[in-house]
Amino acid sequence: MLRFLTAGESHGPCLTAIIEGLPAGLEISVEVIDCELARRQVGYGRGERMQIEEDHVEILGGLLYGRTTGAPLALRIENRDWPNWRRRWEKGELYPLRVPRPGHADYAGMLKYGLDDARLVLERASARETAARVAVGAVVRQLLGALNVTIGSYVDSIGPVEAAIPDLPPEQLWARAEPSDLRCPDEEAAARMHAAIDDARGAGDSLGGTFTVMATGVPAGLGSYVHWDRRLDGRLAAALLSIPAIKGVEIGPAFANARRRGTQVHDALYPDPAGGAQRRTNRAGGVEGGVSNGMPLVVRAAMKPLPSTVSPLHSVDLETGRSAETQYQRADVCAVPAASIVGEAMVAWVLAEAVLEKWGGDRIEQLTVDS
Ligand SMILES: Cc1cc2nc3c(=O)[nH]c(=O)nc-3n(C[C@H](O)[C@H](O)[C@H](O)COP(=O)(O)O)c2cc1C
Repeated sequence: MLRFLTAGESHGPCLTAIIEGLPAGLEISVEVIDCELARRQVGYGRGERMQIEEDHVEILGGLLYGRTTGAPLALRIENRDWPNWRRRWEKGELYPLRVPRPGHADYAGMLKYGLDDARLVLERASARETAARVAVGAVVRQLLGALNVTIGSYVDSIGPVEAAIPDLPPEQLWARAEPSDLRCPDEEAAARMHAAIDDARGAGDSLGGTFTVMATGVPAGLGSYVHWDRRLDGRLAAALLSIPAIKGVEIGPAFANARRRGTQVHDALYPDPAGGAQRRTNRAGGVEGGVSNGMPLVVRAAMKPLPSTVSPLHSVDLETGRSAETQYQRADVCAVPAASIVGEAMVAWVLAEAVLEKWGGDRIEQLTVDS
């Protein structure tokens, strides 16, 4: 069984992750993981922490001579700003936060764990944890790469601005998205997205948006219809919804499909000269009956506007019981491009889990995909 756990606080010394269940003999490149970490850090609309972080992974266990040994793989990402925060903790400058911030985990977390300081909630609830997930995703992408499964993403909307996504193969969409600081393949829309972010920043506000993760080379037969918790679509949705601020997921153009008739939606089958059947369309997004059908996987996610806004939100000082307002000097305006990289990592995770369930072995040579 493949599984991972992460630990660490947003302003603690480091983030750590342990992955268990990787086959032995898988070649892992630290540079590839660092490259994914760098992709998570770019994006117009993000704040200065991104410049401080420059994430780098260290592998502390489970890897010898660049290959997995079958033992748990232990990863560590240092929080570069830790010395400053340690000084502040030691000087007692980090006073308790008694005013929970709407839209964050603060109040729900305080109620759940009986805490009177929202700082104890936010340190772990912060999306900083997603750096560890991107590192984990980068490891399993190397496993999927051995099977020619490739994953990429693009941003298709920021706030009210929607991109016109050209009808191109996934690789070409990714190639257009990669150089864009909004990860948007439509340059004209990206210019309007920049303006929308500047406007929101000027108003002390924030924006959300949507992104699409696609995977090519996905073998048919991952997941199953035989039990609810084996359905690939359900597992993908859960994995994406586990990303902070992701509040909606669709497989293929599900919401547009819901407005059409069945004959306009379902992907007709035609004889395949190589045997069996093939499709000419992919409105199912690569999954039918909870099983991958051999078409590219297409999963889209909606991110809410970031909850920290320079313009104050109404809240309550839980110490006095009086009305209060949230206060920020600076805040990120938009993190949709970064979230799309986290989305890629979570999709990679679900696919790797499903691949190992179906064909997994203890050694990489035993992992032979038969379809
Ligand atoms: C990559 C990424 C970066 C984020 N950065 C911020 C941020 O800078 N400010 C903020 O208020 N929320 C940010 N968030 C969202 C919050 O972490 C999230 O809304 C909060 O923890 C509450 O969780 P929920 O929205 O899932 O309910 C970010 C989310 C992601 C995925």
